[in-house]
Amino acid sequence: MSSTVLGVLVSGRGSNLQAILDAIREGKINAKIGVVISDKKDAFALQRVKGLGIATEVIERKDFATKRQFEEALVNTLCEHNVELVVLAGFMRLLGSDFISAYPGKIMNIHPALLPSFPGLNAQKQAIEYGVKMSGCTVHFVDEGMDSGPIILQQAVPVASSDTAETLAARILEVEHVLYPRAISLYCKGRLTLNGRQVVITDENVK
Ligand code: GRF
Repeated sequence: MSSTVLGVLVSGRGSNLQAILDAIREGKINAKIGVVISDKKDAFALQRVKGLGIATEVIERKDFATKRQFEEALVNTLCEHNVELVVLAGFMRLLGSDFISAYPGKIMNIHPALLPSFPGLNAQKQAIEYGVKMSGCTVHFVDEGMDSGPIILQQAVPVASSDTAETLAARILEVEHVLYPRAISLYCKGRLTLNGRQVVITDENVK
């Protein structure tokens, strides 16, 4: 099977991008990254692909009059690089319907909570303040809502009473770095099918 072309959208430090790069290098994902797009020119994520021969683009919202034009530029860049799966890796913007309809069922995100609990910003802080004993992370397909698309994989992480948002975030992040590459690999193997809101995984017990 030929390798799937990924387009990774980032805004910040890019540790999930790093986990994806590592998983590709180790042969755990049959994919290649066609382009990394950042909406912040100073994002550390861009440094992570330096010297790897991977195209990078900075596309900032402030350079466009409307959200629609900004997203059009994103889609055009993804198309230029023949991207087949869009991977949001700490991309801090809610995508509109034009973008989403350009890649139906082909946009993934990772969120640091067990959705549908604690969507949106500061999910780990929300979990601490609510007092849950378990949180975790969720990989999901992206729809027009805030972290509301069909769930692909989830993994629970315990919350200790001594946790701060930062210590919990660090514990969840370790799991994110395993879960996201696994979800992308399942997609690249053609093992994810949508049945309404449900994501059916072929041979669910096979790694
Ligand atoms: C992660 O916690 C991810 O779950 C959330 O944004 C953060 C991105 O971190 N969507 P990084 O940029 O991948 O290090």
